[in-house]
Amino acid sequence: MNENTKKDMGASTEAIEHHYGTGNDYFQLWLDQTMTYSCAMWDADDPEQTLDAAQLRKIDYHIEQARVRDGQRVLDIGCGWGGVLNRLVTTNNVESATGLTLSESQMDWIEDKNNDPRIEVELKSWEDHRAADGDYDAIISIGAFEHFAKLGLDSDEKVRVYRNFFKKCHGWLRSRGWMSLQTVAYGNSLQKDFDQFIAKEIFPETDTPRLFELAKGADRLFEVVCLRNDRDDYRRTLRAWYSNLKKHRDQAVALKGETESRKFEQYLRLMAYMFEVGGLDLHRVTLRKIDVPR
Ligand SMILES: C[S@@+](CC[C@H](N)C(=O)[O-])C[C@H]1O[C@@H](n2cnc3c(N)ncnc32)[C@H](O)[C@@H]1O
Repeated sequence: MNENTKKDMGASTEAIEHHYGTGNDYFQLWLDQTMTYSCAMWDADDPEQTLDAAQLRKIDYHIEQARVRDGQRVLDIGCGWGGVLNRLVTTNNVESATGLTLSESQMDWIEDKNNDPRIEVELKSWEDHRAADGDYDAIISIGAFEHFAKLGLDSDEKVRVYRNFFKKCHGWLRSRGWMSLQTVAYGNSLQKDFDQFIAKEIFPETDTPRLFELAKGADRLFEVVCLRNDRDDYRRTLRAWYSNLKKHRDQAVALKGETESRKFEQYLRLMAYMFEVGGLDLHRVTLRKIDVPR
């Protein structure tokens, strides 16, 4: 596999839409106000903290880690329903906030809710995004890296995909630019990898990285400035989503039926357990572009 033949190494558009296309109104029942669909950042000393507050705290953490300043150009890879893009224009006064997603329903949502001309969304994989060298001051990517390598690839193949991703980001970033990345990874506490139910029913074609694969992908391209494993934050987030979904169960069943709702409940409970026991980790990684020739 060479650099130019890496297409289809990650989850396909159809596989992404299988999950994210479940329906905006369905996700709205149990996500927070910003429609953020990734691990929140909780204050461990505040058991009363709301999901909304913890999601905003997470968004601001990544914006801060990416050292975003007034008037900058920022890329959000895997922008979901646009929570980060929205925050970048309303609070951080960026020149432009570009988002990439593979989900049409997410893109429609962003275009519908935001009329800020600084926000631009592309229905495109990172593999197909085109930007000039050094075009972005900062890159943020939250909860998308998990989809970049397809289930079935061996570890070396996964590393090659991640390396291709980091090479692209390296090119798009200005000299010494910053990147803030959040991803689920296999933990070291369980020997078994992704649960078949999750792989088949919930996130088809998706395989999670191991930390060393991510690090090998970024090696000599990016300096790792900060690395956190906040797996308990994901346990708490999944519990909050589950409890919201239970609260709105009648509406959920009316929208998607009993079987689909049960499937989602099972997925949220199982994932919470996986984070609790360390079968899965949640990494937040701050990276800085290395300028020296590779
Ligand atoms: C779990 S959601 C996270 C969304 C958002 N970052 C958040 O925190 O709410 C994963 C996102 O990654 C996007 N995605 C998956 N594979 C992608 C790819 N190859 N290129 C760009 N985006 C991708 C999906 O379309 C979706 O928007």
